[in-house]
Amino acid sequence: MFPTTDVNQHMIPILPATAWREFRGEPAQKGLNKTTHLAMIEDPSGKWHRCYVKGCPPNWVTPLTEAIGWLLAEALNLPRPEFAALVMVPLDKLRQNMQMDQHWLNYSEMLSFCASAVDGKNASQGWKWLAHLRAKRLYKRPEIARISAFDQWVDNQDRNTGNLIVKPGGDYVPIDNEFILYSLLWAQKMPFNITHNSLLIEGAQHLSSSDYARFKVEVAREGKLHIAALSTVEPKLEQAIFSLISNSTAANTMWANIQQFLASRAHPDWLSTQLGVIA
Ligand SMILES: Nc1ncnc2c1ncn2[C@@H]1O[C@H](COP(=O)(O)OP(=O)(O)O)[C@@H](O)[C@H]1O
Ligand SMILES: [Mg+2]
Repeated sequence: MFPTTDVNQHMIPILPATAWREFRGEPAQKGLNKTTHLAMIEDPSGKWHRCYVKGCPPNWVTPLTEAIGWLLAEALNLPRPEFAALVMVPLDKLRQNMQMDQHWLNYSEMLSFCASAVDGKNASQGWKWLAHLRAKRLYKRPEIARISAFDQWVDNQDRNTGNLIVKPGGDYVPIDNEFILYSLLWAQKMPFNITHNSLLIEGAQHLSSSDYARFKVEVAREGKLHIAALSTVEPKLEQAIFSLISNSTAANTMWANIQQFLASRAHPDWLSTQLGVIA
């Protein structure tokens, strides 16, 4: 079904079920997605990575959006898990370790996104999120404006604190880019809506108006880097889309839509205009 053996170093690896080597547990904090688990994943060079692995119902675009999110984060050199891939999870093996929803009984493999486990805690875990915000430390970190600019660019509507890992040294790493390209790929296409969460929305609620204004200018400045990142990563995005969507007409349409969506929002003034600031 998917080209699983011809792993090209220029794109995100798409790995066969044999790459899923060992179950390593379930996350302490399960989100909405009940397929998420930890496993050792073998990369094309034979190296094993301890990864969070996340599947989804077969008609969902999650593997595609997560892969695109990771490639864009790489192009922007954002903090990110060091390794990411798409992997076919062997469901017979997973079922030996974890309860799976009934409807998976009809499938032998589950296309999943995996990313190496980032050492740290959810920003919401063990912290009082509001107290933390009051301390304003989060918004003083330079990576937060970069992450926020990225989220605005790619229309990520789900940057909640569970999707931000704090490393022991205090660096923040965004994970879970599932709901990017939201208005293009998710809105009105799914039988649910997600509550829009973002660092800008949190900032508006919890920062002083002058700190919030400063933060918006920083975010808008970061937005000026998006156009160059897009042009470097376009071939990888295109390859990922054409590898995941077997119907070439559908893949062409998907690629054209995504390219246009990202290009228009990568214009150096797009984010300043959106935020109503001069950067
Ligand atoms: N790469 C990762 N590094 C560290 N923790 C992760 C990683 N991926 C997922 N997790 C943990 O697993 C939880 C659920 O994963 P996530 O991808 O956010 O799925 P969901 O769609 O269920 O929110 C996260 O909140 C986080 O605690
Ligand atoms: Mg999440």
